[in-house]
Amino acid sequence: RIVLLNGDFLDFADAKLPIMDRGFLFADGIYEVSAVLNGRTIDNEAHLARLDRSLRAIDIPNPYSTAEWVGFQNDLITRNGLREGTVYIQVTRGVAEREFTYAEGLTPTVLMVTQAKNLLTSKLAVDGATVITLPDLRWARRDIKSVGLLAQVLAKQAAKRAGADEAWMVEDGLVTEGASSSAFIVTRDGALVTRPFTQAVLPGVTRRAITALIRETDLRLDERAFSVAEALAAQEAFYTSASSFVTPVASLDGDPIGTGKPGPIAIKLREFYIRTAL
Ligand code: PDD
Repeated sequence: RIVLLNGDFLDFADAKLPIMDRGFLFADGIYEVSAVLNGRTIDNEAHLARLDRSLRAIDIPNPYSTAEWVGFQNDLITRNGLREGTVYIQVTRGVAEREFTYAEGLTPTVLMVTQAKNLLTSKLAVDGATVITLPDLRWARRDIKSVGLLAQVLAKQAAKRAGADEAWMVEDGLVTEGASSSAFIVTRDGALVTRPFTQAVLPGVTRRAITALIRETDLRLDERAFSVAEALAAQEAFYTSASSFVTPVASLDGDPIGTGKPGPIAIKLREFYIRTAL
């Protein structure tokens, strides 16, 4: 596998980083993940726009224009013969002596890696995912796609240990989002509910695309926070992310959601999203 490191295409094993990279020492960096289907990126402009926004928010200069990013992504996808999977971008502030403050003008470290994955055929899409709830332990700027992912690592591992597929994180009794996904419920009266974009959640690219699809239908969209109790009483639930598209939720904390099987709205939205993306 070939990776892109600071503008050079290298063999995986030859790509090395200095130990004093601030990404390593402070998690001082930003990342993005775009899905790849049939060798082409999905919703990529929105991912690159969010990358730019995240970098601005933490004062790292964006090293490339959108056209340059796209050029590198497509080049890497071609070199690796990637048909289906993800392309990962990470930009850190750069290399310096370990001090909290940073000098202006550091050269950002840029890494791009592809991963081959089956995204279209998913057991979770067929069976529905099992989800547990956990306290949201993250910081107050979750709208920034920071590589500081310790809270999500712990949440995902706790879910895995519990035999679950995803963790929904909860703050003040309300679901913020999944550990690596945006959370939706469908209420008994048929409204689709998902949290509005504030600093409390990541502005999910797939969530944005899905809400745009919903607005084209006669389904009702209600952008507000929902409680765990509401989720348990819902007719359906699902989550969205670049790599999982739309995934129906079968159970929450061991209790079935709706019938305990993937709901018709989640199934339709998944099909429609994939069809539009292809
Ligand atoms: N995770 N919320 C969180 C906390 C996330 O980490 C992600 C994505 C999402 C969904 O965003 P999007 O639709 O833009 O992928 C929501 C990526 C896939 C990851 O960390 O691997």
